This record gives sequence, structure tokens and C-alpha cells, in this order.
Amino acid sequence: MKRILTIIGARPQFVKAAVLSRLIQTNIWNKKFEEILVHTGQHYDKNMSDIFFDEMKIPKPAFNLEVGSGNHGKMTGEMLIKIERLLFKVQPDYLLVYGDTNSTLAGALAASKLHIPVIHIEAGLRSYNMLMPEEQNRVLTDRISSFLFAPTQDAIDKLKNEGLTRGVYMVGDIMFDAALFYKEIISENILGFLKGKFYFDKFALATIHRAENTDNKFRLSQIIEGLGLIPLPIILPLHPRTKKQLDLFGISVPQNIIVIEPLGYLSMLELEKNSECIFTDSGGVQKEAYFFGIPCFTLRDETEWIETIEKGWNILVGASRDNLLNAFLNFNKPSNLPPLFGDGNSGSKILEILHNQ
Ligand code: UD1
Ligand code: UDP
Repeated sequence: MKRILTIIGARPQFVKAAVLSRLIQTNIWNKKFEEILVHTGQHYDKNMSDIFFDEMKIPKPAFNLEVGSGNHGKMTGEMLIKIERLLFKVQPDYLLVYGDTNSTLAGALAASKLHIPVIHIEAGLRSYNMLMPEEQNRVLTDRISSFLFAPTQDAIDKLKNEGLTRGVYMVGDIMFDAALFYKEIISENILGFLKGKFYFDKFALATIHRAENTDNKFRLSQIIEGLGLIPLPIILPLHPRTKKQLDLFGISVPQNIIVIEPLGYLSMLELEKNSECIFTDSGGVQKEAYFFGIPCFTLRDETEWIETIEKGWNILVGASRDNLLNAFLNFNKPSNLPPLFGDGNSGSKILEILHNQ
């Protein structure tokens, strides 16, 4: 029996963990692995955290470190101290982290210092923009991980360019496993509810939360103005960070934008699947747009998910009002949607590899 201590803390990590944590509880794996889930508390609002555990049936974390929000140093430092304490107590065989948040780096660093092998799921992603906290987190995490589970060949190539070839496996994208599994589960009909309340038929979906957009008044204003020019209602489940910044900058939201609270994953999938197109600066949402064959306009200057751009389904529009509108008006839907993110069995492949160590 191998003991895995899994560190999660932010919304996209709950989605990814849901897949592996469910698998570990099945008869095939529950005698081979024991998972101890640790929530750092980085995200804590009900609809940024609990709703995912409830809807997706993620086991309740054994520990919640309740670190909350703060500057990067404070947040990461507090996590580091508390995770190290847990590592002494729990003595796991592995520490597992997902993605590129501060929770990811803190977990990886704490374990690496104690010579506990680190498993990094979603390894090899790069934007090559070291100003992004996520880029710093993922580069450093990859460097100190023993198992680097990469979603795509592009990620493998990027790791190789940095001299990282040991312990690297291409397993597909665990978010694709999640989307395939949970899209079959009936949600609460958020679309019916919103259509009944706001009277619309076709719509676009938008999400905004990247620091580079939310913390820059010009960029945030341009994005909001650009969305205001789109001739469709736009549903915007608003990340608390963005809500705070819109208030701080005094940016008002145009009439075609329907602002709602952040959604649970099942409702989010329902909206994504039924939207005309998606405007987002999220990593996960760009991929989900591709899974469902929905055109995506990415509100960033670069993306880690370049395959979706190469296949013509995703356009980088930056934070420019005019680029956003022009890209929308001139978009031609590609005729095919080749699989880019594996076969939906990424979680099983990861457990197989770990079991065979
Ligand atoms: C974090 C990750 C980012 C990921 C995103 C997913 C880092 C550096 N960033 O960004 O990579 O894409 O999560 O959503 O780890 N807040 C609340 N309630 C919450 C959570 C946050 O009000 O439950 C507000 C607080 O004002 C907080 C701000 O949002 O200061 C930012 O939260 P934080 O976790 O620092 O970063 P995110 O922008 O969420
Ligand atoms: N998501 C959600 N509700 C929302 C916004 C996003 O369930 O209101 C889901 C989304 O479908 C995806 C994940 O959260 O599975 C992506 O998280 P986020 O955009 O916060 O972070 P990123 O992927 O950019 O790190």
C-alpha cells in the first residue's frame, strides 16, 4: 500500500483531484493506494471550494490548512510551514500536486526538501512569461518533481528542452477525464434558470481572473469594453478577485453582460457546452472549450495550450477591445476537432505507472 499526500487548494485543482481521488477509492486501486487529501485553504468561498467537493463527490480533505488569501510570500510561506509539519506526521511515500498555483509550489517544495518524491500532474506547461506567478510555480515544481505527468507531446518537448527527461510520462489531460465523466451528470439546469430570468436564446460565456488582467486597470477596462461590443448576451460568472478589482477601478459593466456568482463545475460544463463561444483567460476553460468544440477567444498575450490555437479553435486576443471584437466577427469554425488531450483515461494511466514503481 502506497501512501499519497495530495495537496489541493484552488478551484482547478478540485476539478483535477476529483478524477484521481474517485479512482483511488474504487476496488481496483483502494488496496494499492491510500490518499490523504490536504486542502491548503487558498480558495475558501463556498462557490470556490465546497461546491466542488459536494457536487463532484470529492472526499472531504483530512486536513484544511486554512491559509486563505494574501501576498504570494505569506501565502506560500504559511503553506510551506504547515505542509512540512504534516509530512513529518503522515510520512507519505509520495506528495502529489496539480497545476501551477501557490499551493502547488508550496507542496512540492516542502516534500522535495524532505526527499519525498513529488508527483506533478500537468507537468511541462509553459507560457515563457516569467512575470506570471503560475509560470514561476510550474517551472520550479517541474524541476523538483520525480514524476512529471504531462498532458501533451508539446509539454514533453518543453520539458526535454529544459533537460527534464527522467520520470516524464505522457498520460493525456486529467481535465479531459473530468469533463467526460461529469458531463453525463445532470446539473441543476442553470441555463433554464438564466434564460427564464434574463430572456435570451443564444449567448456567449466569459471568465476573467488572471492577475495580469485583473490588476491592470487598462487591460481590465479593455476586456470589459470589448465584451460590451459583442452582439450577444454574455454570461460572466465572476471570480471574487475580478469583482474586487472592478469595484476598485470603478469599471462599470455593459448591459449585455450578465454577471453571476462563480458556478459549480456541473453548471459550468452546462454553460460551456451550450454557448456560442467563450471568452476567457483561464487555462482550464480554454481546454474545455476545445473538448466541446466551442470557439474560444483567449484574453491573454500567450497561452500554454498552443495546440488549441494551431487547430484553429482558439484565438489569442490579448486585452484589446478591438482585437476581441474583430476576432469574434472574423472567426471561421474549423471543420474538424482532432483529439489533443488523450483518451479520457489519464487518471488510470497515472495510477498504473505509480503502481509499477
Ligand atoms: C489562483 C491561482 C491561479 C488559478 C486560480 C484559479 C496562484 C498564484 N494563482 O488565482 O493560478 O488560475 O487560482 O481560480 O496560485 N478570493 C476570494 N475568495 C476565495 C478565493 C479568492 O475572495 O475563495 C479573492 C481574494 O481577494 C484573493 C483573490 O481572490 O486575494 C485572489 O485569490 P488567489 O488564490 O490569491 O489567486 P487567484 O486569482 O484565485
Ligand atoms: N470553473 C467553474 N466555475 C466557474 C469558473 C470556472 O467550475 O465559475 C471551472 C472550469 O470549468 C474549469 C476550472 O474551474 O474546470 C478552471 O479553473 P480556473 O479558471 O479558476 O483556473 P485555471 O484553469 O485558469 O487555473
